[in-house]
Amino acid sequence: MSGCGNNDFIVRKAKKEDASKILELIKELAVFEKCPDSVKISAKQLEEDGFGEAPAYGCFVAENLSGNIIGFALYFPRYSTWYGKTLFLEDLYIKADYRKNGIGKQLVKEIAKVAKEKSLRRIDFNVLKWNPAKQFYKKLGAVNASENEDFEIYHFYEDAIKSLVQI
Ligand SMILES: CC(C)(COP(=O)(O)OP(=O)(O)OC[C@H]1O[C@@H](n2cnc3c(N)ncnc32)[C@H](O)[C@@H]1OP(=O)(O)O)[C@@H](O)C(=O)NCCC(=O)NCCS
Repeated sequence: MSGCGNNDFIVRKAKKEDASKILELIKELAVFEKCPDSVKISAKQLEEDGFGEAPAYGCFVAENLSGNIIGFALYFPRYSTWYGKTLFLEDLYIKADYRKNGIGKQLVKEIAKVAKEKSLRRIDFNVLKWNPAKQFYKKLGAVNASENEDFEIYHFYEDAIKSLVQI
């Protein structure tokens, strides 16, 4: 147990049975990020992708004393031609009532432990420009690469993928 008083919590690896709760938190994070309609994934897909023979992602959850999941961190392996294998931290979310109790820090620590065990040189993630979480990450030692580099983030969404395969 970590934390103090009513804010005791544990951090553990996510299990298949956690998928629907994780999806709830993914949706809460999407609302927080002002993109409530962007979550296209289902609990079934999360189950299949994260808990099969070759999991596409890893996930840690934080639980309160009552066994309720109050936060999660989801990551997956990535590859950099500069740094080799890296991890991408896709989501980190703590429910509003439980913030500022060290839970986010503990979840990032678990991801860092995974990176260190695999001797990885970098953990990547994106933060929205207006998100105060920037201060949280900086406090933990993260560097805002977009301050020093001119990269912009691009995506090929489904429609673009469909068009691309036809050109
Ligand atoms: C960002 C977030 C994950 C932080 O989790 P948390 O459990 O509240 O953070 P912690 O309590 O572990 O904080 C660790 C340190 O960062 C500081 N910190 C946390 N949030 C902060 C903020 N918004 N601004 C400045 N500092 C902050 C804490 O004060 C603490 O400092 P200390 O170690 O000196 O005491 C949480 O606020 C959250 O879920 N926010 C909404 C979703 C989000 O923005 N996710 C990230 C998407 S990129």
